[in-house]
Formats: sequence, structure tokens, C-alpha cells
Amino acid sequence: MQITVSAPGKIHLLGEHAVVYGYPSLLSTIDKRLEVILTLLDKSNDTKEKIQIQTPEGTGLIYKSLEIFQKAARLSQLPPLHIKVESDIPVGSGLGSSAALSVALMGALFKGIKNLWNPVKINELAYEVEKLQHGNPSGGDNTVVTFGGLVWFRRETEFLKSIWNLPSASYHLPSLILIDSGRPKETTGEMVSYVNRLYTQKKTFYENIFKDQERETRNLLSALKKGDRENVKRAFYRGEKNLEKMGVVGKKAQSLIRSIEKLGGFAKISGAGGITEGSGMILCYLSNFEKIEEIAKKFGCNIHKVNLGVEGVRIENGE
Ligand code: MEV
Repeated sequence: MQITVSAPGKIHLLGEHAVVYGYPSLLSTIDKRLEVILTLLDKSNDTKEKIQIQTPEGTGLIYKSLEIFQKAARLSQLPPLHIKVESDIPVGSGLGSSAALSVALMGALFKGIKNLWNPVKINELAYEVEKLQHGNPSGGDNTVVTFGGLVWFRRETEFLKSIWNLPSASYHLPSLILIDSGRPKETTGEMVSYVNRLYTQKKTFYENIFKDQERETRNLLSALKKGDRENVKRAFYRGEKNLEKMGVVGKKAQSLIRSIEKLGGFAKISGAGGITEGSGMILCYLSNFEKIEEIAKKFGCNIHKVNLGVEGVRIENGE
């Protein structure tokens, strides 16, 4: 028996980092997906490896997901499985590749082994995996990847999240260009801990930035609703400045962003960021696409065009 489940990548339109401290964030899925192809192997299969994994990246997150699933499904042991991962979501660049993997795998395990399809449960367990992987995540990444579209998210407490699934069709979501400023040296967990260390030292300073970021996230939402491009630009501009004040944007990303702004466009990092080397994907909008290509080339960066608000986790086949 074989089942394929896919999940999309995501971007933080605004509110990353602040969201870890209970402030809202606005997230969207992107049209890049990851697929988990799960095969239940014949029980008599006498290969020594009961769990066979084929993945372009490490297996750590897969084993964590299996452990959490096994516990939640109250199984004394897992049946023999073959897990294959295929993805077009760049890894470690702020596009939610780890959330997409834990969500798609959790979905495939529930459907394949228990014949259950419950996105709320998938999201809940993927959050447990994210906690093992990143330490103190807000839960926003796994939520948008599960439910899809555009999501207004707030972590009220560790066990209570406010999740608003907004109808993407009622918002003027721009197509964006992602400029790859390079894979960050720091993991998401390390960036979250880094901000937390600074927050503990300069609480008032950080609280003020987070409050301002909440204002900008609200401004962005209203501007997207009205299709007010000038205010979309302003919210992104101010939001990016706040991320720089938080200390999560590296030098290369900052000068790349300034170049886009000089030409009348907007650009911001998305997700945890990075300081020592790259800062992950930079969201960028400028009506003149050739200019973006030129700037990206000058900085030696690849670009990807993405559409926003696509469907969340789904069964591709094997139903
Ligand atoms: C990571 O994609 C976004 C952060 O806000 C962390 C989180 O929300 O868990 C930096």
C-alpha cells in the first residue's frame, strides 16, 4: 500500500520573531511543495531495516516525527515502512521546509497506518515535532502549511493558538520574487534563542519593537485587503527595519534590500533570518522584473518567482 501526501512551503509576510512573544503574524503558503511517498512494506519483508528512508536531507526530523506519531497513535511498534521525500522547497531558507516535512509525513502516517485524515491533529503533532527540532517555535509555520492560504496567527499560550484562515481570494496578494541571500549558518532554533538572549537583556527595547511590528502587521493586512499598494510597501519597509533592529538581518541581505528600495520596490527577509552568512530568502516586489534580476546577479543570488495562498496539506494519491 502506498500513499503520497504533499504540503506547501510558506513565507512570513510579517510578524516573524515577534510571534514567539505572543504578537500576531501574517503568513502565506507558496506554490512550492514537498511530497512524502509512504509505502507500507510487507510484514514478511525480512530486510533488517524496518524503516527505510530516502531523502535529500538529514533523517533527524523524520525519526522525530515517527516517534511522536507512534506515541500519539498508541502503537507498540511501527509497521515496516519505506519513506521517500521529494521537495522543491529550498531547505533552511525561511520557507518552512521542516514544517512542510513534518506536516506531510504526519498526514501520510495517519492516513496510511490509521486511515484517518484530520488536519487539526496533523497540525498539533507537527507542532510537537517543530518543538523537538527548534526548541521554542510559535507554531505559525506548521499551521499555515497545514491549513494553507493566508493565515493570521497568534500564540496565546503554549497550548492555545488563535488561528484565522483568511480567504486568499478576498486579499490582493502580490506575486513575489524570492531572492536567495544564501542559506543562514544559524538554524531557526539558534536565531530564536539569539533574539531571546537580547530580549532578556533589553526587554523594553524589544517590547517596543514587537509592539510596532504588531501595528505594521495590522497595517499590512488592511492594505492587502484594500489592494492599497503604497501602504503594503510602507508596512513591508517598516517591518524590515524592525527586523534589522531585532538584529536578525545579515549585512549582505541589508545592502541587497537597500538596492531594491532605492529603485522604489520593497524587500524584507522572511522567517528567522541569519547574521553570519546568508539571511535566507528575501521577499521582494518591484514592478520591473529585469531590475530585480540585475540586482540579484550583482549580489550573486538566485531568484524564484512565487504565487501565494495555495492549498495546504493534501493527499495526492492512495485514498
Ligand atoms: C520562523 O519561520 C519564524 C520565527 O518567528 C520562529 C517561529 O515563529 O517559530 C522566527
